[in-house]
Amino acid sequence: MNYQDLIAITEQHGSPVYVYDAEKIESQYNRLCNAFTKVKHLKINYAVKALSNLSILKLLNSYGAGLDTVSIQEVKLGLLAGVQPEDIIYTPNGVSLTEIEEVAAMGVQINIDNLSILEQFGTKHPNIPVCIRINPHVMAGGNSKISVGHIDSKFGISIHQIPHILRIVENTNMTINGVHMHTGSDILDIEVFLYASEILFETATHFKDLDFIDFGSGFKVPYKEGDIETNIEELGDKLSKRFNSFCKSYGKDLTLGFEPGKFLVSEAGYFLAKVNVVKQTTSTVFAGIDTGFNHFIRPMFYNAQHQIINLSNPDGKERFYSIVGYICETDTFASNRRINEITEGDILAFKNAGAYCFSMASNYNSRYRPAEVLWYEGKDYVIRARETFDDLIKNQVSAPIFEKEPQLAE
Ligand SMILES: Cc1ncc(COP(=O)(O)O)c(C=O)c1O
Repeated sequence: MNYQDLIAITEQHGSPVYVYDAEKIESQYNRLCNAFTKVKHLKINYAVKALSNLSILKLLNSYGAGLDTVSIQEVKLGLLAGVQPEDIIYTPNGVSLTEIEEVAAMGVQINIDNLSILEQFGTKHPNIPVCIRINPHVMAGGNSKISVGHIDSKFGISIHQIPHILRIVENTNMTINGVHMHTGSDILDIEVFLYASEILFETATHFKDLDFIDFGSGFKVPYKEGDIETNIEELGDKLSKRFNSFCKSYGKDLTLGFEPGKFLVSEAGYFLAKVNVVKQTTSTVFAGIDTGFNHFIRPMFYNAQHQIINLSNPDGKERFYSIVGYICETDTFASNRRINEITEGDILAFKNAGAYCFSMASNYNSRYRPAEVLWYEGKDYVIRARETFDDLIKNQVSAPIFEKEPQLAE
């Protein structure tokens, strides 16, 4: 898809709007599979949290992907999208035993990340095989919020607690059919990944009934030209060899699992917004756009640097701008960024807006969440309508303590 396609989508569906390019999602999926062709059984479970629109789940499932889920609601979305329960893995953190039991009853693969729930679940359901998420105590990930495999992290069961896991397994007679880790997102260096994998292989040797080893995700995608990205082909080459030799010593062809979110959908997404105001102050030139961190939180929350293109003037003279949103507090998408000259009414495109963008959007400032559009074989399809005022009030209940009902605007 090109700039004209994106402008046409904004003209037709309004702004702000999210657009996802199906072709890019497919090529990323194929790229990952192609890197691991030497492994006999590969399973890619797409991390639903990255972008949970039903059409995206259907699309990825049509390529052969299963799903990685973290809540019962994500599981339900997956089932509604037609994904088979056995193609879904559920990796919650800190949820109740009741929720885990409900998901297990749906036939979904359970992944448990703490000893307390492992013992309770094993005692009550010794016949349901479970996967265990270990914490390898490895510092990996692009920033502290997304580094989740280190010793102070709340995720996973410490590798130092393997004797305790084994005692629970023996006492409850439960079956461990998988071992899993996810050390963080945006892992820069495949050596860190391979190092953590060795810890997972060592863990696997303690369990005799495994069907799969799940290496989580954390593949780094480029956010701008020249940016570091995970060398998937090199990782595929090295990890496949190591995995195959492990399977030989284990005595069984296990399935190698991954659960990427960003890698599959980040680069496929564009967030399009219109410039409402260009405001020159004593220190900078602000371009104020018709959205805010309520719709696109990554710059404010993670300091993420998303490339911004002025679609309306792609060849214009470059100038420096601070791109800001309309939220009633500091709401900065980019500071002092070099962008082709901006005029009020121009359409800006934020790149890498597929992962953790719409799925983290909110109604803060009582704004409607944007529409989502899928670009598929040269055509645009609305896959989520823009919200309306009815959506904002649909769950609000008027307490019967007011004498006069407030008049709600049309
Ligand atoms: C358990 C688990 N698996 C997979 C992912 C997906 O990570 P990424 O989007 O970096 O591929 C996450 C992200 O938070 C996660 O927590």
